[in-house]
Amino acid sequence: MTKIYISPSILSADFANLERDIKLVESNDADWIHVDVMDGHFVSNITIGIPVVKSLRKVTNLPLDVHLMIENPEKYINDFANAGADIITFHYEAVEKDKIESVIQMIKSAGKKAGLSIKPKTEPSVICPYLKDLDLVLVMTVEPGFGGQKFMEDCADKIPLIKSNAPQGLIIQVDGGINKVTGKICRNKGANSLVAGNYIYKSDDIKKAIESLR
Ligand code: DX5
Ligand code: ZN
Repeated sequence: MTKIYISPSILSADFANLERDIKLVESNDADWIHVDVMDGHFVSNITIGIPVVKSLRKVTNLPLDVHLMIENPEKYINDFANAGADIITFHYEAVEKDKIESVIQMIKSAGKKAGLSIKPKTEPSVICPYLKDLDLVLVMTVEPGFGGQKFMEDCADKIPLIKSNAPQGLIIQVDGGINKVTGKICRNKGANSLVAGNYIYKSDDIKKAIESLR
């Protein structure tokens, strides 16, 4: 059976109790911790940054899956790497085309796993040239910026094209509106990592919620 990496998004956690809320998913078999970094420019919302990642590193052994929704990610890659990020995903739309490859290499030189994400309106074919160098592709299934939005099924339709061009071992992640039903749609199309914020953190039974995504 394919291993499915479940990455609860702490955007839906209680920011005054991040340690508690990370332990809650860690003790219920989450694989990674998804950290949504927003700068108020690439997306309108502002969330958390480097000092928080550094603090989170001290309270969990799970890989920190850092999703950068920021402009000029190249300026901050080394800071996030030094703070303890394990996977660093940036947006295709946030970087000039001729710089994408160098940002990927910057992440890998820092010894981290490199991810590239596409927003709902971005065609999947544009990232095909980079697949051989990436560890992860993140297909957004909502417009980035906020948790709790409705899943866009047409975004999941991008997965088969990416999968058919992907080298062995590339992780295909989805993020936005993921629950038991939409998660299954994505898995069936070839995703093997699911991010979920609201569905996990607002559930009465965290263990069951995480399990239902596999
Ligand atoms: C949205 C973020 C997501 C968000 C998902 O911009 O990238 O990670 O937390 O939240 P849900 O699962 O509630 O849609
Ligand atoms: Zn995210």
